[in-house]
Amino acid sequence: MKASTRTTYGSPDVITVKEVEKPTPKANEILVRVHATTINRTDCGALWGKPFVYRFFIGLFKPRNSITGTDFAGIVEAVGQNVTTFSVGDRVFGFDDNTLPSHAEYMAIACKKPVTKIPSGFTYEQAVASAEAAHYAYNFLNKVKLQPGQKVLVNGGTGGIGSAAIQFLKSMNVFVTAVCHSQYDDRVRALGPDRMIHYDKEDFTQDYEKYDFVFDAVGKSSFKPCTKILKDKGIYISSELGPGAENLYLPLLTSIKGGKKVIFPLPVDISKSLAYVADLAEKGKFKPLIDRTYTLDEIKEAFEYVNSGQKIGNVIIKTSN
Ligand SMILES: NC(=O)c1ccc[n+]([C@@H]2O[C@H](COP(=O)([O-])OP(=O)(O)OC[C@H]3O[C@@H](n4cnc5c(N)ncnc54)[C@H](OP(=O)(O)O)[C@@H]3O)[C@@H](O)[C@H]2O)c1
Repeated sequence: MKASTRTTYGSPDVITVKEVEKPTPKANEILVRVHATTINRTDCGALWGKPFVYRFFIGLFKPRNSITGTDFAGIVEAVGQNVTTFSVGDRVFGFDDNTLPSHAEYMAIACKKPVTKIPSGFTYEQAVASAEAAHYAYNFLNKVKLQPGQKVLVNGGTGGIGSAAIQFLKSMNVFVTAVCHSQYDDRVRALGPDRMIHYDKEDFTQDYEKYDFVFDAVGKSSFKPCTKILKDKGIYISSELGPGAENLYLPLLTSIKGGKKVIFPLPVDISKSLAYVADLAEKGKFKPLIDRTYTLDEIKEAFEYVNSGQKIGNVIIKTSN
């Protein structure tokens, strides 16, 4: 089978797409014919081995998985003798932030790992685009108590995380202001926010509105300027550590001080996130934002594009025709 492989951390130049042995599922594993996978920000971290602390989870001196990847959507082709939860022919998708050998035509995975059946009517591309970023978006939302009618500003409406967060919030009847570049107005407006701010024309931290929550899904802002648009007990959450890694210590300082608070959304429980997004998709309340599609042979190009920070939503790799 064909796979994207590497033996060391580094730029996309370390990748070789080549023929490798097709895996055989162990007793507790399923064999998946991978139809689609993505290149996401977690894949970039795993390719470069950055931040360094990530290597404690994915291989300290060299990557534990020589095949790249973190997510997949495909069809179960074989099941191990102890597997009772999946059958041959099931359409499944999954994600593991500690990497998976999923940039390949076939992959074996233990059935207790985060693997879920694909929502009906979803293509493999839509399913795989509902994994990594949706997991992080759900982990913004589940850190706070959201009530219908509350006001939330999402910075980075074009991003994988931001585009999922907007739809999750709208399914909860929250008032959403989405921030994005004016060139992507149509794509973001289609996700259903109540208001849009174009960051190339207006500084969202000067907005007249006061928000219960500011979700910075691209980590381009910091807490202090956002305090102006937060209500008295408003909460700021960012996907990045912020200047001087302040989002690591501000949660403690702001909770002691009282008033406006910072929360750092440590992502946990991927299975729960996948179940949440699959349920919303079944109800017709979630459709992932998809940017471009590449083939497995074009994977280096796809990594370069995602690493450039320009992608909107999700970048797909099709592993079959
Ligand atoms: N905490 C975690 O565990 C975790 C996990 C994954 C990712 N992340 C981080 O989360 C962030 C988002 O990830 P993602 O996959 O959603 O990223 P992404 O899809 O690459 O999102 C980047 C998007 O942000 C837009 N953007 C750039 N500058 C902006 C600005 N000043 N204001 C508003 N939008 C802007 C870009 O479009 P334009 O430039 O065209 O506007 C692009 O569409 C990344 O910083 C990533 O490192 C964190």
